[in-house]
Amino acid sequence: MLFKQQALLRQKLFVLGSLAIGSLLYLVARVGSLDRLQPLCPIDGRFGPRGQDEIPLRALQFKRGLLHEFRKGNATKEQIWLHNLVQQLPKAIIIGVRKGGTRALLEMLNLHPAVVKASQEIHFFDNDENYAKGIEWYRKKMPFSYPHQITIEKSPAYFITEEVPERIYKMNSSIKLLIIVREPTTRAISDYTQVLEGKERKNKTYYKFEKLAIDPNTCEVNTKYKAVRTSIYTKHLERWLKYFPIEQFHIVDGDRLITEPLPELQLVEKFLNLPPRISQYNLYFNATRGFYCLRFNIVFNKCLAGSKGRIHPEVDTSVITKLRKFFHPFNQKFYQITGRTFNWP
Ligand code: A3P
Repeated sequence: MLFKQQALLRQKLFVLGSLAIGSLLYLVARVGSLDRLQPLCPIDGRFGPRGQDEIPLRALQFKRGLLHEFRKGNATKEQIWLHNLVQQLPKAIIIGVRKGGTRALLEMLNLHPAVVKASQEIHFFDNDENYAKGIEWYRKKMPFSYPHQITIEKSPAYFITEEVPERIYKMNSSIKLLIIVREPTTRAISDYTQVLEGKERKNKTYYKFEKLAIDPNTCEVNTKYKAVRTSIYTKHLERWLKYFPIEQFHIVDGDRLITEPLPELQLVEKFLNLPPRISQYNLYFNATRGFYCLRFNIVFNKCLAGSKGRIHPEVDTSVITKLRKFFHPFNQKFYQITGRTFNWP
């Protein structure tokens, strides 16, 4: 009798135990699947198809957080797929000019929630070795972005390199091209200052700017000096115009970007067909640096690196006058072609 009761109890316990384990397994499976599915909904809601005017400002936080992590290569393939991230070819390229303020322009445009920057200069179109690696190699160098965002890269060497216009044309004949220029003589001195700093870092001596910029035999401007040649903007632009109509270019005033960045950025937003999202809040003047710095949100702000905004060496005024006189006719032609006039002397 006692044996029969014990057997019945064991049977009941077994049934109850099985039920409990079954329920537990079901709950684990259900919660697990919810855990995997849940992130899709809010992400889809935020970044699903929208009109351009509705680009969510919240993307800014994502740019500093999630996208940043993805860019550092900390994401798994599943996470990339889950968040619908892609590596897109650039829709716009800052093609130059070296020392025109290309870094400041890229960083400031990156304040826009719909813009994602390629942090490094990729040098795909100007470097034969890179170019031979093919367009997929280039695309893989691009940052992860949401499909509604546009990718921008900058490589200032593109502007002066012979083969680049044709190569970019072959990739995308309707791409938007940004050129940031500064007063040509100041730009040439800035260019010289960068090279000089490199030489000094290696404990090397270097010529004075005057010696490089003026041909000692003729006492005329030395057009073989690269810093001078780069500042003849119209010569380079004319090569580009063999491939792209002028409407595909936007000229940024690099001198004004230093003193008054917002209106320059608003012109670029317009050119890129982006809704105006960069505001005065995103830019604040830092007296110590002597430049505008960037404010992404209440906690994250940054200034450009110390290599931007170097103190230029003093240059003989007669050399400056000679250079300005030399650049003058080229500048006039540049104004005429671009339809943008600068107050360069
Ligand atoms: P200088 O170092 O001669 O002052 P690039 O990025 O094309 O190399 O251009 C560098 C130039 O960007 C700097 O030249 C600097 O004047 C200019 N610039 C424009 N806005 C700036 C900013 N907000 N912070 C630092 N540099 C800025």
